Amino acid sequence: MPIPEKFESTLISTAQRAARYLREVQERSVSPASAAVDRLQSLGGSLPTTPTGPDEILSLLDEVAAPATIVNAAGRYFGYVMGGTLPAALVASWLTSVWDQNCGLTVMSPAAAKLEEIALAWTLEILGFPAAWGGGLVTGATMANFCGLAAARHALLARAGWDVERQGLFGAPSIQVVVGEEVHASMLKALALAGFGRERVLRVSVDGQGRMRAAALPPLDARTLVCVQAGNVNTGAFDPATEICARARQVGAWVHVDGAFGIWAAASPRYRHLTQGFEQADSVATDAHKWPNVGYDCGIVLVREPKYLRAAMSISAAYIMPGEGREPHHYTPEMSRRARGIELWAALRSLGREGMAELIDRACGHAQRFATELRAAGHAVLNDVVINQVLVSFGSAERTLAIVRRLQEDGVCWCGSTEWQGQTAMRISVSSWATTDRDVELSLEAICRAASQ
Ligand SMILES: Cc1ncc(COP(=O)(O)O)c(C=O)c1O
Repeated sequence: MPIPEKFESTLISTAQRAARYLREVQERSVSPASAAVDRLQSLGGSLPTTPTGPDEILSLLDEVAAPATIVNAAGRYFGYVMGGTLPAALVASWLTSVWDQNCGLTVMSPAAAKLEEIALAWTLEILGFPAAWGGGLVTGATMANFCGLAAARHALLARAGWDVERQGLFGAPSIQVVVGEEVHASMLKALALAGFGRERVLRVSVDGQGRMRAAALPPLDARTLVCVQAGNVNTGAFDPATEICARARQVGAWVHVDGAFGIWAAASPRYRHLTQGFEQADSVATDAHKWPNVGYDCGIVLVREPKYLRAAMSISAAYIMPGEGREPHHYTPEMSRRARGIELWAALRSLGREGMAELIDRACGHAQRFATELRAAGHAVLNDVVINQVLVSFGSAERTLAIVRRLQEDGVCWCGSTEWQGQTAMRISVSSWATTDRDVELSLEAICRAASQ
């Protein structure tokens, strides 16, 4: 179908509706009304026989789908670990869609390939990792973990004389996999995807914050893969990387870091000390769609020796034109993919080093305030609030869950629940650039109101 004549006015109308959405969500309930969720049914039914123009598509989305969205764009969504979208990342995302670039190969999009390369270099710089590391952009930390493990699998088995990409894992020399007792579920999924198995792992005991006890590590060797965490999803705690990496490096074991959000603490001079030692690891997975506030989806895998990632991921075919420089598809499972580097570039460029540090500091400051004021109101904070995660218990599991439910129904803010070492807790994760002091005040009032009913 050719571009409709009046498409420019449709684009302007899209921008106007988008701006109105962003204005209105400041006042809207964070959770959508159930009537709005029910109306989503009207978008289905059997596929219409005749075409629908973009203006009508726009109206349907804006009028039926938008009211059923979770308000992640304002600053009072504290569930899971969900960053917002920085204004610069949002406009970059719009242009990326307009440009419709495929980031698989440089020849497909010089702009996408170059911006991805720059964004990766800036990520290394901001995290304090050597510039010789390399990596790729994937959908999220789960896939980034998978990529880190694939690089590890290649390197460890190649050193044992086994070409895993050619020969597969059946009959391969065995690899010992070590994780902490509080490993993130996505890490286990990534281990399963990479053929290591979710349960064929050695779980090391952890302390009350979920940090691996380095003293409890088994003997390591050159066929060991140790998976550590920079930022536990519940407590925000960091594994003792300096000790673990030193032991691993002595024997040639591979250390992979799940740093989905926590590794970004390295961007702040105030919190950088927490990430010390992780730069001694071999691979790191993280998310730009969490703390750096790039829109979904944007995961990042970083590898000390990029040749291992490349060995695990690259393909060639007669029709694929190799470029002179870095080819994006050599570092990711996908070939064709969205040009995520454009948004990451825009987010980092718009913040600069100072802006990123300020974003981290502000989120951690808000988390501290939640903890301090909830403690003062007589509620139990279960974790040491080291970065942006707060765990709150209101007594019994039933009472805590009832309060979380009331809070979610109330709609001023949104927090989820979790189990932390045998206790049911409410989770507060402050990850959005958009959260203001006023948002924290309103949310504290809402939490205390829900707890007093
Ligand atoms: C520590 C950690 N690892 C991995 C993940 C998975 O990230 P994604 O949902 O981007 O795949 C998360 C998500 O919250 C996380 O907190």
